[in-house]
Amino acid sequence: MRRLFVAALAAAGLAGTLAHDSHNVSRRKTLSFGPVHPHASYHTNPVYHTSLLRASEDPLDVARLFVEDLVRDIRGSDFVVRKDSYTDEATGITHAYVRQYINGIEVADGDINVNIKDGVVLSYGDSFFRPKTTTTFNVADAVSSKVDPHADYCRTLEDEIASQLRQVDRTSRKAPVEASALEQLSYLYEWNCNFVDAPDIMAQDIEFSAAEDVASRDISRALLQFMLAATPSEDLQQEIMDDPSKFIPKMHVSFEHHMSEQPFFTIENAPDAVNPVKGRLAFIQVPEGNSTTLQLVFKFEVEMKDNWYEAAVSAEAPHRIISVVDWASDSPVPVAPVPKDSEGATYNVFAWGINDPSVGERSIQKENFDALASPLGWHALPYANDPHSESVRPKDASKIRNTTTTWGNNVFAHEDWEGRNNWVNNYRPDAGSSKAFDFKYSPKKTDTTDALEEAQKYINATVTQLFYTSNLVHDLFYRYGFNEVSGNFQQHNFGRGGQENDAVIANAQDGSGYNNANFMTPPDGQNGRCRMYLWNTANPYRDGDLEAGIVIHELAHGLSTRLTGGPANSGCLGWGEAGGMGEGWGDFLATTIRSNKNYSDYAMGSWAANRDNGIRNYPYSLNETVNPSTYQTLDKPGYWGVHAIGEVWAQILWVVSQKLIEKHGFVDDLFPPKPLEDGTIPEGDFYRKAEFTADGKPKPLVPKHGNSLIFQLVLDGMKLQPCRPSFFDARDAIIAADQALTGGENLCELWEGFAARGLGVDAAVKNRTPWGGGVRTNGHALPKQCKKAGEPEPPTEPAPGDGDDDGDDDDWPWLQWVVEKTAVFSWSWRL
Ligand SMILES: *[C@@H]1O[C@H](CO)[C@@H](O)[C@H](O)[C@H]1NC(C)=O
Ligand SMILES: *[C@@H]1O[C@H](CO)[C@@H](O)[C@H](O)[C@H]1NC(C)=O
Ligand SMILES: *[C@@H]1O[C@H](CO)[C@@H](O)[C@H](O)[C@H]1NC(C)=O
Ligand SMILES: *[C@@H]1O[C@H](CO)[C@@H](O)[C@H](O)[C@H]1NC(C)=O
Ligand SMILES: *[C@@H]1O[C@H](CO)[C@@H](O)[C@H](O)[C@H]1NC(C)=O
Ligand SMILES: *[C@@H]1O[C@H](CO)[C@@H](O)[C@H](O)[C@H]1NC(C)=O
Repeated sequence: MRRLFVAALAAAGLAGTLAHDSHNVSRRKTLSFGPVHPHASYHTNPVYHTSLLRASEDPLDVARLFVEDLVRDIRGSDFVVRKDSYTDEATGITHAYVRQYINGIEVADGDINVNIKDGVVLSYGDSFFRPKTTTTFNVADAVSSKVDPHADYCRTLEDEIASQLRQVDRTSRKAPVEASALEQLSYLYEWNCNFVDAPDIMAQDIEFSAAEDVASRDISRALLQFMLAATPSEDLQQEIMDDPSKFIPKMHVSFEHHMSEQPFFTIENAPDAVNPVKGRLAFIQVPEGNSTTLQLVFKFEVEMKDNWYEAAVSAEAPHRIISVVDWASDSPVPVAPVPKDSEGATYNVFAWGINDPSVGERSIQKENFDALASPLGWHALPYANDPHSESVRPKDASKIRNTTTTWGNNVFAHEDWEGRNNWVNNYRPDAGSSKAFDFKYSPKKTDTTDALEEAQKYINATVTQLFYTSNLVHDLFYRYGFNEVSGNFQQHNFGRGGQENDAVIANAQDGSGYNNANFMTPPDGQNGRCRMYLWNTANPYRDGDLEAGIVIHELAHGLSTRLTGGPANSGCLGWGEAGGMGEGWGDFLATTIRSNKNYSDYAMGSWAANRDNGIRNYPYSLNETVNPSTYQTLDKPGYWGVHAIGEVWAQILWVVSQKLIEKHGFVDDLFPPKPLEDGTIPEGDFYRKAEFTADGKPKPLVPKHGNSLIFQLVLDGMKLQPCRPSFFDARDAIIAADQALTGGENLCELWEGFAARGLGVDAAVKNRTPWGGGVRTNGHALPKQCKKAGEPEPPTEPAPGDGDDDGDDDDWPWLQWVVEKTAVFSWSWRL
């Protein structure tokens, strides 16, 4: 397998250049793959027994009754309505998250999300396991399955690399796009596959003291096997393979037993993990034909320096990693090489709306916090929630600690020149009692050897900027519904629900890399971590902290990960279309925030990357020559990685947003009006009351303008969509969000936007693989009620299938034909 990788690089003229960061692009080793769920579905028009549901007032009871009815045929299956379910006060929609259990063991990817309003189920997503036969499921079947998604993934990747190589050969030497597609595939392969043949540590003869019980030993071996795959250190890999018995006896497993649940366990001293690893026993589903079978796995949460993994390792054959999600998301790597008003704080910064130093000057800005989102302002938090103050904590820990540094309830910002994981005592600027964060920023051109030192001279200014931008993003997201119950990032939650002690840890000028940025999103209640880097793309270096678009992109990972599938599930945007949209939302929100009344195209990250088109293939644009991306673009070489997929999604959303702006106009300030003294929110020129009202309930406030409305619908859509959403699911969720908020006023504008870039009602996909493969067909058709003269007719024959318009393959009979005509590739799982 290594041979293939090396051959690929050699043929592309890349050998010897990739192994180290030739272009000074930091590439963090990251693993991500997992089984596809052929049976998963999202229904925006569900059929159910109204009488049954109306029997109950409590929306969680409605969810319970609904799911009971939905899954009554699955023998031996049980479920819990997860505790992170919540009701969104702004929309009145309850988002219930339901997890499946079989024979008392959790099915880690058996998820149902039910969206309920006024006793009615608006939509639901469903990936529950359903056995093929109606006989009771036998656990023994789960440990004897021979399905190996990891090996299948690597085989398919090999085929793709081979196919790319043939094309490179044929055109004799590379075309740039092919070279970069190949480069990307090669990285995927090296990271995810070069351990697929690693020796099975379980199979080795290791002596144990009699005191060690079998369960602990098996857990340790499985975890060590995972660390072998996950560590970026080749030396450590070698050490593990040479002598696993050096590590295993040190890895202490302690069990935590619960009354009604499977025990959890904690493993200490796993090599390369920076904290004790959490684990539990679970089932996971692997595909078999058009349904799934179960595998018994150890589910681990592994925090490493550059990664935070949620991994499922087969309990029977621990050399098999069944799925792995990295809670850390990178920002984009360039595709081609690049040569309390009066007493509040003030900041000398690039003001909100100035994307980067190329488009404006710094000025003095106030601590303009939103009283709903940040009731204490940005520089205060209760001693009880302050990681700093353990030694000085007063008796009454609820007392508020006021700070004069970049340390508050939403964000802890500081330098991290060493690029390490410690952060509490890292340097941060102190503005003293005046709280005037006014620091120098005047980098000069220097010798290359001095460029880093030159950048470090303005650390005060850059940490200030990162703190300012991150707090505004917190407040903005909050006002559109990313609040405590939906899993936002705060140390203290003001008694409003959700898990606490999870403000964003924001590292400026992080020394662990150049020319990048990343964000780690563990489940609600654990701190998110944002790492911003310097970019050595120019002299003086450029500092990513000063480019708002990059900071917003990173923080949006926290938003989309916590909102999709519920606050306690960070595994819903791991790879493929779902992972791609995780990137795309960040670009879209960043671009929307920087845009103004005068329409303009925008490129992502172009200042930091010192490149007109920025870090993507194309700027975001309505012009199809400038940005030709459509749904079908995902089939092209180079579109297997989440960033390329995300670029397509962001472009589609950009087109959709312009449709709404055409209809509703544009508001200059995306921040909703501040609340009045009594806490009510005035309409101002920002909101209008919805036209429709459900059962005499107060009419909800609807953002009046196109750009604020799309912002709202995108966030609401994240809450409505299922775990591991496809493009179709996310599109349908945005349309469902408009239905819930406005009664569907914008149905046709939304569909027009999606259809313009191939996501119309007749769009289709066959053989979608979890990481991006498949055969897609653009669809430009609108639903019947939106049709204008001269537009393509969707098929007139009623389609067989599930009867909904959710883009399932079965919605359109002629698709079979289209797909057969175009099915040159077959990316189906080889089982
Ligand atoms: C990469 O960065 C290092 C350190 O900043 C510098 O010495 C080197 O010249 C850079 N290489 C390239 C190819 O830009
Ligand atoms: C799944 O596949 C089996 C056999 O391949 C077929 O009989 C069955 O109808 C399929 N089920 C669905 C829901 O497509
Ligand atoms: C922090 O400031 C608030 C008002 O801004 C005040 O009520 C509180 O007492 C201060 N906390 C301390 C410990 O001084
Ligand atoms: C940062 O600001 C502090 C004052 O708060 C000052 O003492 C220090 O020299 C500044 N650091 C740099 C690198 O300018
Ligand atoms: C929009 O364009 C007009 C006319 O060119 C200009 O006067 C105005 O300042 C621009 N507005 C913004 C927000 O850039
Ligand atoms: C689209 O962009 C191309 C290339 O920049 C340009 O030639 C063309 O005029 C643009 N079309 C429109 C409608 O602006």
